[in-house]
Amino acid sequence: MTGIANTGGASTPTGLIIRQKEPTNLEMPFARLDSFLTPTELFYIRSHFPTPKIDASQYELRIDGAVGRPLTLRYEELRAMRSETRIATLECAGNGRVFLVPQVRGAQWELGAVGNAEWTGVPLRDLLERAGLEDGACEIVFEGADQGVPSEEPKPPGPISYSRSVPLEKALQPEVLIAYQMNGRDLSRDHGFPVRAIVPGHYGMASVKWLTRIQAVREPFQGYWQTSDYGYWDSLDGKPVRRALAEIKLKSAIARPRVYETIVPNRTYTVFGAAWAGETEVTEIAVSADGGESWAEACFVDPMHRHAWRRWKFDWVTPEQPGRYTLLARARDASGAIQPEAHDWNYGTYVIAHPLPIEVNVANPEQAG
Ligand code: MTE
Repeated sequence: MTGIANTGGASTPTGLIIRQKEPTNLEMPFARLDSFLTPTELFYIRSHFPTPKIDASQYELRIDGAVGRPLTLRYEELRAMRSETRIATLECAGNGRVFLVPQVRGAQWELGAVGNAEWTGVPLRDLLERAGLEDGACEIVFEGADQGVPSEEPKPPGPISYSRSVPLEKALQPEVLIAYQMNGRDLSRDHGFPVRAIVPGHYGMASVKWLTRIQAVREPFQGYWQTSDYGYWDSLDGKPVRRALAEIKLKSAIARPRVYETIVPNRTYTVFGAAWAGETEVTEIAVSADGGESWAEACFVDPMHRHAWRRWKFDWVTPEQPGRYTLLARARDASGAIQPEAHDWNYGTYVIAHPLPIEVNVANPEQAG
């Protein structure tokens, strides 16, 4: 364990793919999916501004706004409180963006801006209880220590911090943590040392890293990261209205084979992947090896676990006929809903939740050896 008077374990993210060097944006090569819990060094990193360096011995978390007893907690005080450990999948809302046609702006994430980890920290609701939430509070705003000028218009004239709100109803759920550990070790700097929010079931941008302030507000928060960025078009009485992205949508992704992998004909190839959903369970996976004309059921490798992904596998008897084949995986959730066939452009460059085509080459027998 790292001592408390430090600035976080030096994270050496071996084996990640660089999407942007500075700020740090790295993804897991998704073909390396093996374990239920993503090893920390393989867990994607998505940061909008340079990574702040925070000394835990100087760290303070402020809880204020619509509360009766505003308070400031030091790192050791937070660590001395009752803690919980929960498993949650975080997915960046832009994960899979490279599959969009036509190509769109933003980091060209393939499949690996998603990971599943075990998080330890203080339930947010314990902190809010201690601070005495006042009537009328409707959202909780998390603010990070990182600052800068965002890239997408419209943007405010000066530098801003990374801030995001969650609706009060979600903030009070027992799974929402103010976390200081990931996979049993103190958070690394890239993943938010010393303290971050973890909002299971919501896209990753809700889980604010380098958390310095928790503010209860009486009006919906309209900050940059949920209006200009990370928003989508919903429909209200037939009219488009802008809303903040929140819950993770049902999704299944193929880890193996990889795009354009060469496959031996007439053999059993185990297709392997993972599926996840926000506030519901994944109950079924279907796999197609003919671009969606026919589907067969895959088996789960992991049991159901709310807010965590389920890995799955499918034994595919590869065709004798050489050529290009398109694999797809499609999840069904506990309500019976399945993934949409195509991208919903109301989400713009986010929520890439349709089955993503993995094209592979079935080799002719000479190539296959
Ligand atoms: N928190 C702060 N303070 N600054 C950020 O840039 N990025 C968000 C979120 N929390 C971000 C942040 C986004 S977009 C995602 S997807 C997750 O952190 C990624 O968490 P990770 O880097 O630990 O994987």
